[in-house]
Amino acid sequence: MISKPPGIEDIFPDRIEKWNRIVDAARSSFVSFNYRECIIPIMEFAEVFTRGLGGATDIVTKEMFTLEDRGGRNLALRPEGTASLVRAYVENGEFNRLSTCKFFYHGPMFRAERPQKGRLRQFNQFGAEMFGSIDPYYDFEIILVMDTIARKLGIMDYTLLLNSIGCPECRGGYIKVLSEYYLEKSESLCDDCKTRLNKNPLRLLDCKKEKCRPLKEEAPFIRDYICEGCSTHHEKLQKLLDDNNVRNTDAPRLVRGLDYYTRTTFEFVTDRLGGQNAFAAGGRYDNLVEQSGGKSTPAVGFAAGIERLFLLMDGAVNSAGIDFYLVHSGGESLNAAIKLIPPLTSRGFSMDIDPEKTSFKQQMKKANKENARLVLIIGEDELMEKKFTVKEMSSGSQASYGLDTFDEYLKGVHVSARRHEGRS
Ligand code: HAM
Repeated sequence: MISKPPGIEDIFPDRIEKWNRIVDAARSSFVSFNYRECIIPIMEFAEVFTRGLGGATDIVTKEMFTLEDRGGRNLALRPEGTASLVRAYVENGEFNRLSTCKFFYHGPMFRAERPQKGRLRQFNQFGAEMFGSIDPYYDFEIILVMDTIARKLGIMDYTLLLNSIGCPECRGGYIKVLSEYYLEKSESLCDDCKTRLNKNPLRLLDCKKEKCRPLKEEAPFIRDYICEGCSTHHEKLQKLLDDNNVRNTDAPRLVRGLDYYTRTTFEFVTDRLGGQNAFAAGGRYDNLVEQSGGKSTPAVGFAAGIERLFLLMDGAVNSAGIDFYLVHSGGESLNAAIKLIPPLTSRGFSMDIDPEKTSFKQQMKKANKENARLVLIIGEDELMEKKFTVKEMSSGSQASYGLDTFDEYLKGVHVSARRHEGRS
């Protein structure tokens, strides 16, 4: 047997109800806030990410799955959706007929990380991106969408970490101060951080190694160096969150592991995930569209990890079950039962049948296993009398009707609500 590579998961039917509940909660929330769905490619030219995410980020230097196409061009499996969506936004004429554009997406992402609980090499994200406005309302809206989704999924025990990392103009001054601070202590840095100090000092605040933690804790705060415009933006966002009861915690060292951010950065974290404490994260990136060849267009967005939300949701979601299980006694009785399938499925009812089993007991057992609401029996007696019998599984009550009234009977049955719960 060939097994799957490390850090890659199969989502089998035992997990799919819960999985779909997450995707459905996200989709219905995005639609409520007027975000529109995009399907973007899983594979891009590697440059989309090397330029978009920053050449010194861990994702670009260590974690991208890349391959060469037959023409020698470097391709990458997408490690995230934002740079890809920006590429698509610019390439599709920037959707410039609208002043603001709001998009959402979901699907697999790939990062060659060391696999552990909540950290995979192929994982799934849903995310939203808003293009075209500098207004802090949109930072608030993006956060509110994720807060809405978390609440729909029953995840309330999280902390929203919030920071501003300023704009390229004001960040320069801070980076100088930060470099000076670290330069004096460079001997105590890990090897990665020694490189970061030369290439991209802001990434020093991103280091997760124990060795670098004490230095990080003493590092100067970026927010003491940001300009008035960035400061005002941050205060307005904080006021919107506070006025609308979205609890948030000041996180003055939250810089995030991607270079495209400007001003707002945030993470939704919990202590229930061990080392991988963030289940959603995002921020503003006002320069990425222009850097990617588009018009200057401010933007803000977030993405959440579906596997991490899955781990955070309490308990299993009950299998939705089916509306009808068809019970027969083989031969002509089976043929008669099969004839009832199209009228059922064309009306939206879910059903199942086992053509090989003819024992009533075995079929009732299967009906129970499939969590059927109603059992529709066409046994030999029914066949002779041109009838069908319906048993309601919850009450055990049973009634028979003429086969020629099957359509009439169905008009009085509702398609099971459970099947459609949470679907948008
Ligand atoms: P990110 O923080 O790299 O941001 O990822 C967002 C979320 O994806 C994380 O909070 C986590 O839940 C999930 N995630 C990341 N890596 C893994 C992994 N190896 N295994 C399982 N889950 C993972 C971004 O990707 C940005 N594109 C977010 C954004 C959108 N910023 C602006 N717009």
